[in-house]
Amino acid sequence: MRIGTTLTNYIIQNQRHIDGATGEFTGLLNDIAVACKKIADLVNKGALVNVLGATDSQNVQGETQKKLDVISNELMIEALRHNGHIAALASEEMDSVYHLPANAPRGKYLLLCDPLDGSSNIDINVSVGTIFSILKAPEGVANPTEQDFLRPGTEQVAAGYCLYGPSTMLVLTTGNGVSMFTLDRDFGEFLLTENNVTIPAETKEFAINTSYQRFWDAPVRRYIDECLQGADGPRKKNFNMRWVASMVAEVHRILTRGGIFLYPCNSQLRAAGKTGKLRLMYEANPMAFIVEQAAGGAIDGQQRILDIAPDEIHQRIPVILGSRSEVELVQDYCRSGKA
Ligand code: AHG
Ligand code: MN
Ligand code: MN
Repeated sequence: MRIGTTLTNYIIQNQRHIDGATGEFTGLLNDIAVACKKIADLVNKGALVNVLGATDSQNVQGETQKKLDVISNELMIEALRHNGHIAALASEEMDSVYHLPANAPRGKYLLLCDPLDGSSNIDINVSVGTIFSILKAPEGVANPTEQDFLRPGTEQVAAGYCLYGPSTMLVLTTGNGVSMFTLDRDFGEFLLTENNVTIPAETKEFAINTSYQRFWDAPVRRYIDECLQGADGPRKKNFNMRWVASMVAEVHRILTRGGIFLYPCNSQLRAAGKTGKLRLMYEANPMAFIVEQAAGGAIDGQQRILDIAPDEIHQRIPVILGSRSEVELVQDYCRSGKA
Protein backbone atom coordinates (compact mmCIF):
# COMPACT_ATOMS: atom_id res chain seq x y z
CA MET A 1 0.00 0.00 0.00
CA ARG A 2 1.12 3.54 -0.75
CA ILE A 3 3.29 5.24 1.88
CA GLY A 4 1.29 8.20 3.24
CA THR A 5 -2.05 6.35 3.12
CA THR A 6 -4.22 7.24 6.12
CA LEU A 7 -4.86 4.55 8.75
CA THR A 8 -8.58 4.63 7.87
CA ASN A 9 -7.96 3.98 4.17
CA TYR A 10 -5.47 1.27 5.03
CA ILE A 11 -7.97 -0.53 7.28
CA ILE A 12 -10.79 -0.31 4.74
CA GLN A 13 -8.55 -1.91 2.11
CA ASN A 14 -7.13 -4.45 4.59
CA GLN A 15 -10.54 -5.52 5.82
CA ARG A 16 -10.89 -7.68 2.74
CA HIS A 17 -8.34 -10.12 4.25
CA ILE A 18 -10.34 -10.58 7.43
CA ASP A 19 -12.91 -13.30 7.43
CA GLY A 20 -16.39 -11.84 7.82
CA ALA A 21 -15.15 -8.31 8.53
CA THR A 22 -17.51 -5.44 7.78
CA GLY A 23 -17.26 -1.70 8.32
CA GLU A 24 -17.49 -2.47 12.02
CA PHE A 25 -13.84 -3.48 12.11
CA THR A 26 -12.80 -0.21 10.48
CA GLY A 27 -14.94 1.59 13.03
CA LEU A 28 -13.31 -0.26 15.91
CA LEU A 29 -9.78 0.57 14.80
CA ASN A 30 -10.83 4.17 14.31
CA ASP A 31 -12.15 4.25 17.90
CA ILE A 32 -8.83 2.89 19.16
CA ALA A 33 -6.91 5.44 17.08
CA VAL A 34 -9.03 8.25 18.54
CA ALA A 35 -8.27 7.07 22.09
CA CYS A 36 -4.56 6.82 21.26
CA LYS A 37 -4.52 10.36 19.85
CA LYS A 38 -6.10 11.67 23.05
CA ILE A 39 -3.63 9.74 25.22
CA ALA A 40 -0.75 10.98 23.01
CA ASP A 41 -1.90 14.54 23.56
CA LEU A 42 -1.94 14.16 27.36
CA VAL A 43 1.39 12.29 27.46
CA ASN A 44 2.86 15.07 25.35
CA LYS A 45 1.52 17.89 27.54
CA GLY A 46 2.50 16.06 30.76
CA ALA A 47 3.03 18.39 33.70
CA LEU A 48 1.31 21.26 31.86
CA VAL A 49 -2.03 19.51 32.32
CA ASN A 50 -1.25 17.90 35.68
CA VAL A 51 -1.37 14.27 34.53
CA LEU A 52 1.98 13.04 35.92
CA GLY A 53 2.42 11.20 39.22
CA ALA A 54 0.62 8.43 41.06
CA THR A 55 -2.90 7.96 42.38
CA ASP A 56 -3.54 6.42 45.80
CA SER A 57 -5.20 3.37 44.24
CA GLN A 58 -3.86 -0.03 43.19
CA ASN A 59 -4.96 -2.15 40.25
CA VAL A 60 -6.09 -5.76 40.59
CA GLN A 61 -2.46 -6.89 40.31
CA GLY A 62 -1.42 -4.85 43.35
CA GLU A 63 0.44 -2.21 41.33
CA THR A 64 0.05 1.45 42.27
CA GLN A 65 -1.77 3.16 39.44
CA LYS A 66 -0.37 6.29 37.86
CA LYS A 67 -2.80 9.09 37.04
CA LEU A 68 -2.18 8.43 33.36
CA ASP A 69 -2.93 4.69 33.77
CA VAL A 70 -6.39 5.59 35.05
CA ILE A 71 -6.99 8.40 32.53
CA SER A 72 -5.85 6.24 29.59
CA ASN A 73 -8.17 3.47 30.68
CA GLU A 74 -11.08 5.92 30.85
CA LEU A 75 -10.24 7.31 27.41
CA MET A 76 -10.28 3.81 25.90
CA ILE A 77 -13.71 3.13 27.43
CA GLU A 78 -15.06 6.51 26.39
CA ALA A 79 -13.92 6.00 22.78
CA LEU A 80 -15.59 2.59 22.53
CA ARG A 81 -18.64 2.18 24.70
CA HIS A 82 -21.34 3.86 22.62
CA ASN A 83 -20.18 3.07 19.07
CA GLY A 84 -21.44 -0.49 18.67
CA HIS A 85 -18.09 -1.95 17.61
CA ILE A 86 -17.31 -4.06 20.68
CA ALA A 87 -19.32 -6.40 22.88
CA ALA A 88 -17.07 -5.93 25.94
CA LEU A 89 -13.65 -4.72 26.99
CA ALA A 90 -10.99 -6.09 29.35
CA SER A 91 -8.07 -4.06 30.60
CA GLU A 92 -5.02 -4.48 32.79
CA GLU A 93 -6.37 -1.60 34.90
CA MET A 94 -9.79 -3.11 35.67
CA ASP A 95 -10.52 -5.98 38.05
CA SER A 96 -13.11 -7.59 35.79
CA VAL A 97 -14.59 -7.38 32.31
CA TYR A 98 -16.16 -4.00 31.45
CA HIS A 99 -19.76 -4.41 30.34
CA LEU A 100 -21.29 -1.81 28.04
CA PRO A 101 -24.21 0.32 29.26
CA ALA A 102 -27.52 -1.52 28.85
CA ASN A 103 -28.72 0.85 26.11
CA ALA A 104 -25.47 0.81 24.08
CA PRO A 105 -25.40 -1.14 20.80
CA ARG A 106 -23.29 -4.33 20.88
CA GLY A 107 -20.59 -5.05 18.32
CA LYS A 108 -18.98 -8.32 17.33
CA TYR A 109 -15.50 -7.81 18.78
CA LEU A 110 -13.85 -8.09 22.18
CA LEU A 111 -11.08 -5.65 23.02
CA LEU A 112 -8.24 -6.30 25.47
CA CYS A 113 -5.78 -3.56 26.32
CA ASP A 114 -2.91 -2.32 28.38
CA PRO A 115 -4.00 1.34 28.28
CA LEU A 116 -0.58 2.64 29.29
CA ASP A 117 2.44 0.38 29.19
CA GLY A 118 5.64 1.48 30.90
CA SER A 119 4.17 3.27 33.91
CA SER A 120 7.60 3.59 35.53
CA ASN A 121 8.64 5.81 32.62
CA ILE A 122 5.77 8.31 32.71
CA ASP A 123 7.29 10.70 35.23
CA ILE A 124 10.77 10.64 33.67
CA ASN A 125 9.61 11.57 30.15
CA VAL A 126 10.65 8.29 28.54
CA SER A 127 8.52 6.47 25.93
CA VAL A 128 5.32 4.74 27.00
CA GLY A 129 2.59 3.11 24.92
CA THR A 130 -0.86 1.54 24.56
CA ILE A 131 -1.19 -2.14 23.61
CA PHE A 132 -4.37 -3.72 22.23
CA SER A 133 -5.67 -7.11 21.12
CA ILE A 134 -8.92 -7.84 19.28
CA LEU A 135 -10.90 -11.10 19.41
CA LYS A 136 -14.25 -12.09 17.93
CA ALA A 137 -17.10 -11.94 20.45
CA PRO A 138 -19.35 -14.96 20.88
CA GLU A 139 -22.52 -14.52 18.85
CA GLY A 140 -25.76 -13.47 20.51
CA VAL A 141 -24.22 -12.75 23.94
CA ALA A 142 -25.16 -9.30 25.26
CA ASN A 143 -22.62 -9.26 28.11
CA PRO A 144 -19.63 -11.54 27.41
CA THR A 145 -17.96 -12.94 30.51
CA GLU A 146 -14.29 -13.42 31.37
CA GLN A 147 -14.60 -16.96 30.01
CA ASP A 148 -15.44 -15.56 26.55
CA PHE A 149 -12.11 -13.70 26.52
CA LEU A 150 -10.00 -16.74 27.37
CA ARG A 151 -9.01 -17.61 23.79
CA PRO A 152 -5.47 -18.47 22.65
CA GLY A 153 -3.53 -15.73 20.88
CA THR A 154 -3.86 -17.55 17.56
CA GLU A 155 -7.50 -16.40 17.52
CA GLN A 156 -6.65 -12.69 17.59
CA VAL A 157 -8.22 -10.85 14.65
CA ALA A 158 -5.84 -7.93 15.03
CA ALA A 159 -3.32 -6.54 17.48
CA GLY A 160 -1.30 -3.39 17.76
CA TYR A 161 0.31 -0.77 19.89
CA CYS A 162 0.72 2.96 19.93
CA LEU A 163 4.13 4.25 20.97
CA TYR A 164 4.26 7.70 22.57
CA GLY A 165 7.87 8.55 21.82
CA PRO A 166 9.61 11.38 19.97
CA SER A 167 6.98 10.56 17.31
CA THR A 168 3.65 8.95 18.08
CA MET A 169 3.44 5.72 16.08
CA LEU A 170 0.70 3.15 15.68
CA VAL A 171 1.83 -0.35 14.72
CA LEU A 172 -0.78 -2.80 13.51
CA THR A 173 -1.27 -6.34 12.32
CA THR A 174 -4.46 -7.88 11.05
CA GLY A 175 -2.68 -11.17 10.33
CA ASN A 176 -1.34 -10.00 7.01
CA GLY A 177 2.06 -8.55 7.95
CA VAL A 178 2.89 -5.56 10.11
CA SER A 179 2.52 -1.89 9.20
CA MET A 180 3.65 1.26 10.97
CA PHE A 181 1.85 4.61 10.97
CA THR A 182 3.17 7.93 12.24
CA LEU A 183 0.86 10.57 13.70
CA ASP A 184 0.94 13.79 11.71
CA ARG A 185 -0.17 16.26 14.37
CA ASP A 186 -0.97 19.00 11.82
CA PHE A 187 -3.33 16.61 10.01
CA GLY A 188 -4.48 14.75 13.13
CA GLU A 189 -4.10 11.51 11.18
CA PHE A 190 -1.93 8.41 11.39
CA LEU A 191 -0.17 8.04 8.01
CA LEU A 192 1.46 4.83 6.75
CA THR A 193 5.24 5.14 7.04
CA GLU A 194 6.41 1.48 6.90
CA ASN A 195 4.90 -1.61 5.32
CA ASN A 196 5.85 -5.30 5.55
CA VAL A 197 7.97 -4.77 8.64
CA THR A 198 10.48 -7.63 9.02
CA ILE A 199 12.66 -8.43 12.04
CA PRO A 200 16.16 -9.53 11.00
CA ALA A 201 16.67 -13.21 11.98
CA GLU A 202 20.12 -12.53 13.44
CA THR A 203 20.95 -9.93 16.06
CA LYS A 204 23.67 -8.72 18.41
CA GLU A 205 21.38 -6.89 20.84
CA PHE A 206 19.55 -8.23 23.87
CA ALA A 207 17.16 -6.64 26.40
CA ILE A 208 16.67 -7.97 29.91
CA ASN A 209 16.52 -6.43 33.37
CA THR A 210 19.82 -7.74 34.75
CA SER A 211 19.01 -6.57 38.29
CA TYR A 212 17.14 -9.89 38.66
CA GLN A 213 20.17 -11.94 37.60
CA ARG A 214 20.52 -13.75 40.93
CA PHE A 215 16.92 -14.98 40.62
CA TRP A 216 17.20 -16.29 37.04
CA ASP A 217 16.79 -19.94 36.06
CA ALA A 218 19.81 -21.75 34.63
CA PRO A 219 18.84 -21.55 30.92
CA VAL A 220 18.39 -17.74 31.02
CA ARG A 221 21.60 -17.38 33.02
CA ARG A 222 23.44 -19.45 30.42
CA TYR A 223 22.05 -17.51 27.45
CA ILE A 224 22.88 -14.07 28.88
CA ASP A 225 26.26 -15.22 30.16
CA GLU A 226 27.19 -16.38 26.66
CA CYS A 227 26.05 -13.05 25.18
CA LEU A 228 28.21 -11.21 27.73
CA GLN A 229 31.27 -13.28 26.85
CA GLY A 230 30.98 -11.73 23.39
CA ALA A 231 33.65 -12.49 20.82
CA ASP A 232 35.66 -14.42 23.44
CA GLY A 233 32.82 -16.86 24.19
CA PRO A 234 30.84 -19.53 22.31
CA ARG A 235 28.73 -16.93 20.44
CA LYS A 236 31.90 -15.52 18.84
CA LYS A 237 30.42 -12.02 18.51
CA ASN A 238 30.00 -9.01 20.78
CA PHE A 239 26.49 -8.12 21.99
CA ASN A 240 24.96 -4.78 22.92
CA MET A 241 22.35 -4.39 25.67
CA ARG A 242 19.25 -2.15 26.00
CA TRP A 243 16.50 -1.94 28.66
CA VAL A 244 13.93 0.85 28.32
CA ALA A 245 11.44 -0.70 30.80
CA SER A 246 8.55 -0.06 28.40
CA MET A 247 7.71 -3.23 26.51
CA VAL A 248 6.25 -1.13 23.70
CA ALA A 249 9.56 0.64 23.20
CA GLU A 250 11.54 -2.62 23.33
CA VAL A 251 9.28 -4.30 20.77
CA HIS A 252 9.43 -1.23 18.56
CA ARG A 253 13.22 -1.28 18.61
CA ILE A 254 13.23 -4.99 17.78
CA LEU A 255 10.79 -4.49 14.88
CA THR A 256 13.03 -1.70 13.59
CA ARG A 257 16.53 -3.18 13.92
CA GLY A 258 16.21 -6.67 15.42
CA GLY A 259 17.08 -7.92 18.88
CA ILE A 260 15.76 -10.17 21.61
CA PHE A 261 13.65 -9.21 24.64
CA LEU A 262 13.42 -11.42 27.71
CA TYR A 263 11.19 -11.06 30.74
CA PRO A 264 11.52 -14.57 32.16
CA CYS A 265 9.95 -15.84 35.32
CA ASN A 266 12.44 -16.01 38.21
CA SER A 267 12.67 -17.38 41.74
CA GLN A 268 11.73 -14.04 43.28
CA LEU A 269 8.50 -13.83 41.26
CA ARG A 270 7.71 -17.47 42.06
CA ALA A 271 8.26 -16.84 45.77
CA ALA A 272 5.62 -14.10 45.48
CA GLY A 273 3.24 -16.61 43.87
CA LYS A 274 3.61 -15.12 40.38
CA THR A 275 4.12 -16.97 37.10
CA GLY A 276 5.84 -14.06 35.37
CA LYS A 277 5.62 -10.28 35.24
CA LEU A 278 4.01 -9.55 31.89
CA ARG A 279 0.37 -10.23 31.21
CA LEU A 280 -0.61 -12.84 28.64
CA MET A 281 -3.81 -11.19 27.43
CA TYR A 282 -2.79 -7.50 27.38
CA GLU A 283 0.93 -7.63 26.58
CA ALA A 284 2.30 -11.02 25.54
CA ASN A 285 -0.40 -12.12 23.07
CA PRO A 286 -0.67 -8.89 21.06
CA MET A 287 3.12 -8.46 20.95
CA ALA A 288 3.64 -12.13 20.01
CA PHE A 289 1.15 -11.74 17.14
CA ILE A 290 2.94 -8.63 15.87
CA VAL A 291 6.41 -10.16 16.23
CA GLU A 292 5.43 -13.40 14.47
CA GLN A 293 3.81 -11.41 11.67
CA ALA A 294 7.16 -9.65 11.26
CA ALA A 295 8.99 -13.02 10.96
CA GLY A 296 10.19 -13.09 14.57
CA GLY A 297 9.56 -15.61 17.36
CA ALA A 298 7.69 -15.32 20.67
CA ILE A 299 7.79 -18.03 23.36
CA ASP A 300 7.28 -18.44 27.11
CA GLY A 301 10.39 -20.67 27.29
CA GLN A 302 8.51 -23.90 26.72
CA GLN A 303 6.06 -23.10 23.96
CA ARG A 304 4.84 -20.56 21.44
CA ILE A 305 3.00 -17.78 23.31
CA LEU A 306 0.14 -17.72 20.77
CA ASP A 307 -0.66 -21.40 21.49
CA ILE A 308 -1.19 -20.90 25.23
CA ALA A 309 -4.75 -21.61 26.39
CA PRO A 310 -5.38 -18.91 29.02
CA ASP A 311 -6.60 -19.82 32.50
CA GLU A 312 -7.59 -16.36 33.63
CA ILE A 313 -7.80 -12.86 32.25
CA HIS A 314 -4.95 -11.30 34.29
CA GLN A 315 -2.63 -14.30 33.84
CA ARG A 316 1.10 -13.54 33.85
CA ILE A 317 3.67 -15.43 31.80
CA PRO A 318 7.39 -15.37 30.95
CA VAL A 319 8.06 -13.63 27.62
CA ILE A 320 10.96 -14.13 25.22
CA LEU A 321 10.55 -12.55 21.80
CA GLY A 322 12.39 -11.07 18.87
CA SER A 323 14.86 -12.22 16.21
CA ARG A 324 13.97 -15.77 15.33
CA SER A 325 17.38 -17.44 15.61
CA GLU A 326 18.01 -16.01 19.09
CA VAL A 327 14.55 -16.97 20.35
CA GLU A 328 15.14 -20.51 19.04
CA LEU A 329 18.46 -20.68 20.87
CA VAL A 330 16.82 -19.67 24.17
CA GLN A 331 14.09 -22.23 23.48
CA ASP A 332 16.74 -24.94 23.03
CA TYR A 333 18.40 -23.97 26.32
CA CYS A 334 15.04 -23.93 28.15
CA ARG A 335 13.94 -27.27 26.72
CA SER A 336 17.21 -29.04 27.46
CA GLY A 337 17.32 -27.31 30.86
CA LYS A 338 21.12 -27.15 30.64
CA ALA A 339 22.94 -24.67 32.83
P1 AHG B 1 3.01 -1.69 32.92
O1 AHG B 1 3.56 -0.31 33.05
O2 AHG B 1 1.86 -1.76 31.94
O3 AHG B 1 2.68 -2.33 34.25
O4 AHG B 1 4.11 -2.63 32.22
C1 AHG B 1 5.46 -2.45 32.53
C2 AHG B 1 6.17 -3.71 32.08
C3 AHG B 1 6.81 -3.64 30.73
O5 AHG B 1 6.44 -2.62 29.91
C4 AHG B 1 8.27 -3.56 31.01
O6 AHG B 1 8.96 -4.32 30.07
C5 AHG B 1 8.41 -4.13 32.38
O7 AHG B 1 7.18 -3.95 33.02
C6 AHG B 1 9.48 -3.49 33.18
O8 AHG B 1 9.64 -4.20 34.36
P2 AHG B 1 10.84 -3.95 35.38
O9 AHG B 1 10.52 -2.67 36.07
O10 AHG B 1 10.79 -5.13 36.29
O11 AHG B 1 12.12 -3.89 34.59
MN1 MN C 1 2.37 -3.07 30.44
MN1 MN D 1 -0.07 -0.70 31.91
